[in-house]
Amino acid sequence: MSRTLSELRHAQAQLLESNKLEAIGQLAAGVAHEINTPIQYVSDNTGFLETAFQQLVQVLDETSRVVASLTAEEHAPPPLRDLTEKFRTMRLDWLREEIPRAIAESMDGLERVSTIVSAMKDFSHPSAAEKEMTDLHDAIMTTVTVARHEWKYVAEIETQFDAAVPSVPCLRNELNQVILNLIVNAAHAIAERLGDSSSKGRITISTALFSGEVELRVQDDGAGIPAAVASRIYDPFFTTKPVGKGTGQGLSIARSVVVERHGGSIRFESTPGAGTCFFVRLPTAAASGEAVERGVSMPPLALTVGAR
Ligand SMILES: Nc1ncnc2c1ncn2[C@@H]1O[C@H](COP(=O)(O)OP(=O)(O)O)[C@@H](O)[C@H]1O
Ligand SMILES: [Mg+2]
Repeated sequence: MSRTLSELRHAQAQLLESNKLEAIGQLAAGVAHEINTPIQYVSDNTGFLETAFQQLVQVLDETSRVVASLTAEEHAPPPLRDLTEKFRTMRLDWLREEIPRAIAESMDGLERVSTIVSAMKDFSHPSAAEKEMTDLHDAIMTTVTVARHEWKYVAEIETQFDAAVPSVPCLRNELNQVILNLIVNAAHAIAERLGDSSSKGRITISTALFSGEVELRVQDDGAGIPAAVASRIYDPFFTTKPVGKGTGQGLSIARSVVVERHGGSIRFESTPGAGTCFFVRLPTAAASGEAVERGVSMPPLALTVGAR
């Protein structure tokens, strides 16, 4: 295939991919919005049940005490005795412990749904055409939450955030996409190393500040990248995964978002059998502002292992 044709194919695939993502994003934002309302009233009602139950228990305790003492008297009428028996068989003690626990668990579940819904809204927020100042740590947490299903069976995720990292000018949706692609790749690499074993790997996401740049690292303890494929992983459609699992688009998109759209750099270090770390660097506002003022383009990429 000639170079131009393959470039065209690449461009078309990226366009399709981004159209698809845009549509999915819109749907997800809509669904998240729709879920919010029922969550709100289920939460309110559950809170109401919690307080109502406490009041009910007080009355019930009082009643059962009175009934018990009246039943103890001679010639207590049969209905009273029946009531005492009912109190005994309904296992009041057990219920008064288990009901609040059930309510607390429901509240917990509802809170988790709310977190996921708000992350989904965040993640699929309509993309601004312009770069916005973006909190990298927020973007990471949002992506980790929406992608939970992709990693939770194979890995724990740990975050190590450098508090000194400032917000950086970003196309937020595109940045989210990069983080997502790196997390999914890390999870796949871990799954590959684990095979059928039921143990879990670890993905560590960390940030750091350098002069003029912030760095995002996604480290996994997965299968690693063999030297033989290292030079091809950013190529569009290059994948070592079976059909249905890999499209070979993830890193090619990540690279064009980071390098072409943000003037940053992406590189990796990998030890086959032990794991891989991807390093993404993005210019800070000060650095990209300077570049604009002086009328020069983004700073050149550092040429490091695997950098493109
Ligand atoms: N964290 C990683 N660990 C090991 N291999 C990786 C990792 N990330 C990417 N790769 C390799 O790079 C290839 C291309 O990645 P990508 O562009 O995301 O496409 P896909 O994930 O669809 O295969 C993968 O098929 C895999 O061989
Ligand atoms: Mg991928």
